[in-house]
Amino acid sequence: MTTIGDFMLGGHAACDDLFAQAENAAGDWPRAEGALGVFRDTLLEHIAMEEEVLFPAFEDESGAAQGGPSETMRAEHQQMRALLEQMADAARAHDERRYLGAADTLLMLMQQHNMKEESMMYPMIEAAAGTRADELIAQCRAIELRSAGTCTCSRHGAATA
Ligand SMILES: [Fe+2]
Ligand SMILES: [Fe+2]
Repeated sequence: MTTIGDFMLGGHAACDDLFAQAENAAGDWPRAEGALGVFRDTLLEHIAMEEEVLFPAFEDESGAAQGGPSETMRAEHQQMRALLEQMADAARAHDERRYLGAADTLLMLMQQHNMKEESMMYPMIEAAAGTRADELIAQCRAIELRSAGTCTCSRHGAATA
């Protein structure tokens, strides 16, 4: 049986790979803008699964909303969105120093954020969801399918299964 943590870990792995491609393309701006676009769509899709499906389910079941761990994760998502915008601005301006600076900050934030989700947030969601876990994974898959068909979690999940 796939757990929520297993399923979402595939998204973190996909985002790590796509981030590296976007970072490595710095200076080759047409390629960088393309790679950044794919990374951005994938990261935002992953965040949508958390903010639209998993965190609300956790908050409903546990009663922990304000000041709880999911609120901290949402605040970090806001920082990630801002850094994605900074990278996109820098790519448009062909400003390599600013692009790589924003990329460095985003990478550090993502690493810390993903570690907290994997070690704490996802297990708490799994525990709170109980028998609803499969239903929540199905709702996350629906978000994958509604976007450009990136299907990142499924693809990486299959590769590592
Ligand atoms: Fe997250
Ligand atoms: Fe995540």
